[in-house]
Amino acid sequence: MELKGQHILSVKDISLELINELFQVAEAMRPYAKRQKVSRVLEGALLGNMFFEPSTRTRVSFGCAFNLLGGEVRETTGLSNSALAKGESLYDTAQVLSGYSDIIAMRHPAAGSVAEFAQGSRVPVINGGDGPNEHPTQALLDLFTIQKELERQGKSINQLSLTMLGDLKHGRTVHSLCQLLSLYSNLKIQLISPEALAMPSEFVDILVNAGHQVEVGTKLEQGLPQANIIYQTRIQEERFKSQEEANRYRGYFRLNKQIYFEHCQPNAVIMHPLPRDSRNDANELDNDLNAEPGLAIFRQTDNGVLVRMALFACILGVENQLKKYERDVNWFTGLRNKPQV
Ligand code: NCD
Repeated sequence: MELKGQHILSVKDISLELINELFQVAEAMRPYAKRQKVSRVLEGALLGNMFFEPSTRTRVSFGCAFNLLGGEVRETTGLSNSALAKGESLYDTAQVLSGYSDIIAMRHPAAGSVAEFAQGSRVPVINGGDGPNEHPTQALLDLFTIQKELERQGKSINQLSLTMLGDLKHGRTVHSLCQLLSLYSNLKIQLISPEALAMPSEFVDILVNAGHQVEVGTKLEQGLPQANIIYQTRIQEERFKSQEEANRYRGYFRLNKQIYFEHCQPNAVIMHPLPRDSRNDANELDNDLNAEPGLAIFRQTDNGVLVRMALFACILGVENQLKKYERDVNWFTGLRNKPQV
């Protein structure tokens, strides 16, 4: 599959070959993302950024990625602010918005909604999260981060021992990530959650069928010692029937400096799709880890921009024209380029 002109609705359509190509383009985006150079390759292009569910980093990083390539962004946020609240169908909304855009990124609370929207769209659509179903661009940036973090340690993805922690039932990021990991084989994957929030069996099967060693458990300490990457997740309270039910699990797994030093490998990498729930009764990833070199959460968010830039460039077919539209940066960028821990 070639990315040019394609929708990105699910990770199911993505091959290893395509990932490798995409990640090479993502690497080439680094000077533009770090504001060492400017490329205006998408000058004149419009992104429709449609977020019908709460979002900070996904929405803003899609917008930044498009702006960094010279394109313009138009966006709408919240179902209640859109004509969907007046009963307009996703098909009609897509027909209208695709007349105003060259590409659309969309998040919506219902599983399958972005695919339904894409059927009415005359331009490529990228799924920014459809309910508990999938979050393909997050999984791509997570995989990119996993590779980079292992490379920093002189390791490759074949040496991955990954522990996913938390709400594995409702977390769309882990659902998509499991499917991408199934493109590899012989990895060690530990799935640790409260019993009621276990990874749905379809995704466990996908991992097992790929030939990975999969261990399922309910105790935090069980998943930590063997992992070189720990992927913590938030209890997805918005997917529960009641807040009381969600509250039973908020704070169930708390990762902090003491637990990290007691149970984890010395260079273990901590990832999280974010937002981390930092309220006292949850505090799933403690601030006392902020200065630890293993905490990769903000490298992960920076990588999101690279991967989303690469997706836009490849889908719009300009990945080989970046240099042609390049110029120097004329403003002060010193603080931004301070090395990150
Ligand atoms: C995730 C999401 O929206 O699925 N956030 C994100 O996009 N980075 C995870 C979450 O909300 O917990």
